[in-house]
Amino acid sequence: MKILVVGGGGREHAIVWKLAQSPLADEIYCAPGNAGIAHLADCVNIPAEDVDALLDFAQAENIDLTVVGPEAPLSLGIVDKFMAAGLRIFGPSQSAALIEGSKELAKQIMAKYGIPTAKYMSFTDKAQALAYVREQGAPIVVKADGLAAGKGVVVAETVAEAEQAVEDMLGGAFGAAGAKVVIEEFLKGEEVSVLAFTDGHTVLPMVSAQDHKRVFDGDKGPNTGGMGAYSPAPVYTPEMAEQVLHDVLQPAVDGMRAEGRLYKGVLYAGLMVTPEGVKVLEFNARFGDPETQAVLMRLKSDLVEIMLAVIDGTLQEKQLEWYDDAAVCVVIASDGYPGHYAKGQPISGLDDDMPDTYVFHAGTAYAGQHIVANGGRVLGVTARGADIRQAIERVYLRADEIYYDGCFCRRDIGHRALDRENK
Ligand code: AMP
Ligand code: GLY
Repeated sequence: MKILVVGGGGREHAIVWKLAQSPLADEIYCAPGNAGIAHLADCVNIPAEDVDALLDFAQAENIDLTVVGPEAPLSLGIVDKFMAAGLRIFGPSQSAALIEGSKELAKQIMAKYGIPTAKYMSFTDKAQALAYVREQGAPIVVKADGLAAGKGVVVAETVAEAEQAVEDMLGGAFGAAGAKVVIEEFLKGEEVSVLAFTDGHTVLPMVSAQDHKRVFDGDKGPNTGGMGAYSPAPVYTPEMAEQVLHDVLQPAVDGMRAEGRLYKGVLYAGLMVTPEGVKVLEFNARFGDPETQAVLMRLKSDLVEIMLAVIDGTLQEKQLEWYDDAAVCVVIASDGYPGHYAKGQPISGLDDDMPDTYVFHAGTAYAGQHIVANGGRVLGVTARGADIRQAIERVYLRADEIYYDGCFCRRDIGHRALDRENK
């Protein structure tokens, strides 16, 4: 089979790495890919958002299976266009991907189908939104309805902060994405990410994971795309997993189908484990980054077979098999990230092949013969171990061999899992 993976980050490197292990994969292409992906796939210089150029390429090369990594091409309708051309593609349609692209739609689906989530109201009128914030008090959460590059959520600790967020969003700070705001109850607890494969009917949840969104140790500093992840998340018990399948994932997929938005691909549920039970913070229409790096390291099953079953609607015949091992991913980023950072520094220490570890590339490129930093998040060093403790030891041994000018990583990835073990 000829396979095309769309995207060029750590998540896509992990997807390519796992697909490449399948006996069904003959040739893999990745658009645009990165310097690490180039070792496993032919990188094609087409941006992930250039849906028409991707379609031309897939038709010219007779691609048998296309896998979409990031959200942007999904919301641009890449799946609809490929399907209309008779090509097999893994991911939700444009109307189904709106479960991530519109927070209001996600909340409406949850309300209508009884999925536990924070209480909310949505507003387009500033005065009404401000009145609601004052009436509810703080802490409270203000979210731009549309996609705002990860910056559309403000967890406000004071009413003044929430008022400012409403002013910014309804004042046009995020353009159309902020023309409507969702204001919701603050949920206290520990976060867990649960990804599931679905063909629109059957739901097969993956193992749980937890990511680390803040840039510095101790969960300090601004939010990022994710500084590390580990799997499993010990806070998430087998009972919770049963309940989430039954009360969250299955009703979401059934509800989307009932709304005429047949959902196929990966459904990502961002969950909060609260004293009143597990509640949904958000849905994403794709694999998470960096959760995928940790989760796919634990997947035993053939990823090509699963993706084909999702596309063909035969997922009920499949089961997912996992390694019992834990996995930890530590992101190596560039000084200044998530703000301004330098690019082009040569990276050393990439060549060593340590068993049970793999260095996924996120923002890297070739400059002549040398691999150089080419993004804020540059690498996702990932290791498996018999338990979280061993995976953490291994991942930092490997990460510490890697160096470039201005590199840093969090030293406390997996700390919550360790704290839980120590208790
Ligand atoms: P979202 O993009 O909706 O997942 O929000 C980004 C982050 O904001 C989440 O990962 C949480 O850390 C936080 N967050 C979102 N909604 C809430 C909420 N209702 N209560 C507490 N924290 C939240
Ligand atoms: N790690 C969070 C996300 O992929 O949205």
